[in-house]
Amino acid sequence: MKDSQAVLYPNEEVAKKVTEYSENHTLGLPKAITDYHAWIVETQEMSNYTISTFQAKSHVWLARLIGAKRILEIGSYLGFSAAIWSHAVGPSGTVTGLEFNPEYAAVAKSKLSGLGINNVNFILGPAADSLTTLTPEVPYDLVFIDADKANYPTYLSLLLSHSQPGSSNRLLRPGALIVADNVLRRGIVADPSDANPHVKADRERTAQGKNGEFRSNRDLEMLNLFNKDMSESERIETWLVPLWDGVMVGRLID
Ligand SMILES: C[S@@+](CC[C@H](N)C(=O)[O-])C[C@H]1O[C@@H](n2cnc3c(N)ncnc32)[C@H](O)[C@@H]1O
Repeated sequence: MKDSQAVLYPNEEVAKKVTEYSENHTLGLPKAITDYHAWIVETQEMSNYTISTFQAKSHVWLARLIGAKRILEIGSYLGFSAAIWSHAVGPSGTVTGLEFNPEYAAVAKSKLSGLGINNVNFILGPAADSLTTLTPEVPYDLVFIDADKANYPTYLSLLLSHSQPGSSNRLLRPGALIVADNVLRRGIVADPSDANPHVKADRERTAQGKNGEFRSNRDLEMLNLFNKDMSESERIETWLVPLWDGVMVGRLID
């Protein structure tokens, strides 16, 4: 193939089977944590907030690749991804989750404690405020951005300005990974034209008052800006992975 266009599967049925096969051939997760995921999916109205178990596996793999021991998460919901980061760093590591919904944070805290997970600390409040007040003793190895999409550029800007080269007081260490979820929004960020069937489906959902707040024009604009800021920053090397809802992975060089 001359270009790098990846048209891998002829239809959704084949893509589903390939995805299942791929997940089955990817590292395993503790049953207690996958059971917690199943509980969220079965019982929670907003269960689509949480990452899939397959994406979770990729997170463990990435964190272990860089030997991460300290992870910062922006947007924790009921704590499934925080539990995954906890598993990735092991008992000697720590996870800090920023969440502004007290009910979600309370469920996350109690459920994780029930799972025997004691190395996750949730900080309540708007993440942009928490980011400006955090002073970790040792900088984080990885940050996962998964909160309100319209603030992604703000989160990036705060993370970078609070991680200045040579500073003894920084949020991210040199070489840290910046992982951000939902940066493609079912492809609408890259192709917002009517030729993309998801655009029409999204417009219909928005007209019915469903999901509009998640895929608003402002979210799309800000996700585009975030992807631009990440890829054009001289301080970051990026890999935009077109899997799931689009995962931006960046490595902070300095
Ligand atoms: C997509 S969910 C996170 C899902 C979680 N990372 C997981 O995979 O299990 C986004 C979360 O971000 C929280 N959130 C949204 N805006 C926020 C803000 N400005 N500050 C802090 N948390 C916010 C929401 O309450 C929600 O729980």
